[in-house]
Amino acid sequence: MNNIIPIRSGITLTPFSSGDQNNLIQYLNDPSIQANTANIPVPYTRKDADEWLQHTADLFHQHGAHYNLAIRHEQYGVIGGIGAFLRTGLQGHSDEIGYWLAAPFRGQGIMPEAVRAFCQWLFEVRPALVRIEARVYTFNDPSSRVLEKVGFHKEGLLRKATKKQEKLIDTYLWSLLRGEI
Ligand SMILES: CC(C)(COP(=O)(O)OP(=O)(O)OC[C@H]1O[C@@H](n2cnc3c(N)ncnc32)[C@H](O)[C@@H]1OP(=O)(O)O)[C@@H](O)C(=O)NCCC(=O)NCCS
Repeated sequence: MNNIIPIRSGITLTPFSSGDQNNLIQYLNDPSIQANTANIPVPYTRKDADEWLQHTADLFHQHGAHYNLAIRHEQYGVIGGIGAFLRTGLQGHSDEIGYWLAAPFRGQGIMPEAVRAFCQWLFEVRPALVRIEARVYTFNDPSSRVLEKVGFHKEGLLRKATKKQEKLIDTYLWSLLRGEI
């Protein structure tokens, strides 16, 4: 399954591909992305970009579909990313999503549209999925706004739930149930 999901004029969700390294390096060298996500380092090097592209290729072979997608601008190339951590077994009804958008493109409502389209697609292709979760650090108001605009429910505060560089970060748990979108 080589999915391409339309977002708005000139912007689609597509698989990552070789050739995306330069944009990843340009846009992910951003402390605001590092501060608000779990695993994106700064400095973000060519090795990090190569490893990410290899990781997405490995996951494609494992799952038979791309569940980590680039937010791709027809003129500028990759400007962001959105992906699902697929759960299995007893947790197979509940995936978790994560996302980032390059700084020059923020504040235009791109991410709410991307999250909405991605969640609709995820519910379609994963019939057993009942619930999509997102975890947002309590200081990340823009990301909480994105989820609110899409229709996610804020379920609660997970106290000191995230360990990051030896700091324990309070984290909100948001969820969207099938039928709520
Ligand atoms: C969170 C993020 C994805 C938002 O994407 P976006 O497409 O800018 O979302 P929106 O345009 O809907 O803006 C959401 C909110 O961000 C804030 N915002 C607006 N312009 C902004 C700007 N230029 N820069 C930062 N935040 C801005 C506003 O509070 C806005 O809410 P409002 O529409 O009610 O005013 C983006 O800021 C980002 O990638 N941040 C760093 C990585 C991150 O936090 N990822 C999520 C981890 S849970």
